[in-house]
Amino acid sequence: MFNAGFRALSLDAAYVRLAASTAEEALSTAREIGIKGLNITSPFKSEVVPLLDEVEPGARKVGSVNTVITRDGRFVGYNTDVAGVIGALRESDFEPEGKKAVVIGAGGAGRAAALALQASGVRVVLVNRTGEKAFEAARILGCDALPLEHIADGLEGAHLLVSCISSNGRLISPSLLSSGLTVLEADYGRPTALLRDATDAGCRLIDGRLWLLHQAVPAFTLATGKEAPVAEMRKALFKRSWALHKNVALIGFMGTGKSTVAQEMAASSDLSFLDTDSAVEARAGMPVSEIFEMKGEAAFRMMEQDELQELWNVSRAVISCGGGAVLTKRNRRFLRSRCIPVWLWADVDTALTRVGGEGTRPLLRGDDPGSRARALLDERLFLYACTSDLVINTRGKTPRDIAARIWDEVHYVFDS
Ligand code: S3P
Repeated sequence: MFNAGFRALSLDAAYVRLAASTAEEALSTAREIGIKGLNITSPFKSEVVPLLDEVEPGARKVGSVNTVITRDGRFVGYNTDVAGVIGALRESDFEPEGKKAVVIGAGGAGRAAALALQASGVRVVLVNRTGEKAFEAARILGCDALPLEHIADGLEGAHLLVSCISSNGRLISPSLLSSGLTVLEADYGRPTALLRDATDAGCRLIDGRLWLLHQAVPAFTLATGKEAPVAEMRKALFKRSWALHKNVALIGFMGTGKSTVAQEMAASSDLSFLDTDSAVEARAGMPVSEIFEMKGEAAFRMMEQDELQELWNVSRAVISCGGGAVLTKRNRRFLRSRCIPVWLWADVDTALTRVGGEGTRPLLRGDDPGSRARALLDERLFLYACTSDLVINTRGKTPRDIAARIWDEVHYVFDS
């Protein structure tokens, strides 16, 4: 969505998923890479709040931030979920004034939905598995609350049910759903039990992706200062398909651990392991450093490109790419169309420590490998960002941790 928006406005910007284990790690990685803005999703929307330098009042009230913008090195938090819910309802011609709604889930998304509905003249009942959490949030937001056991009371006479919980299980008895009810399921990624039950009961459904779209529109403006090209973003959101993405490709600077992590991923899944540097070396019959010495960098780039282009028909592989694989347009096209490109990040000092001093990386030879590495990374930073789908900071993690974290983010492509 964002990338389609950037393209439509010819902005030199890239949007990439950031896999982080904590909100703190997300922010420190953003600072290291120089990321200008982030969208925060579950489960970090509340956790991130105390870590920010400034939080706009709406977000503070909801106790949840889904958009962070870096301004003069300071992190400023916003909540565009409130606008997202209102946009989704408006687009679905749901007239809120005077209606009753049940919002299930008192996390960041649920609280934003409750506030949005309250502000639109809806009587809101907030329901949560842990009742106290619902009561506490309802007190701040000024709405009603119930524990999950009493959801039947809440649904009596309700016009709208907004589900903001991530659970595969059935939490609402199908007998409580009827054709008079409109259902907005925030978990838009999969056919949840609620969506199935609501369809069977003849409820009117509002596509959760509309919420996603309408929270992204103000986030886009906050990040770029420009009006969002909504039509292009919508088109990208609804057409997204992973059907052709048959492989995972690990990209990133030298010394970020691409080969080791790729081997870990292959060992713990049924994906095979491929390595472009090894493929080039096998074909040339000499190490990469010798190819650079005898034939030069340009020749190496051609060979590297040939190896990658040979992989168009490969599927279910983890491909470890040389650090410069993103330099050519043909490679970037291959990586984005046939792979889920994952960018392994390490700051230059960490990367240099990892590659060691044995001179295996011809581009870092010479008196001052540190400055060479910094200059190279600067040149490539944007290419890594606009090629990748996911970025992960490798610092302080074992290859096994990194492999597991990536797998967590991409496995659904291979499960289906
Ligand atoms: C290169 C990275 C190396 C290797 C070659 C060029 C680069 O691979 O392809 O030395 O341009 O960054 P690694 O990233 O695996 O070190």
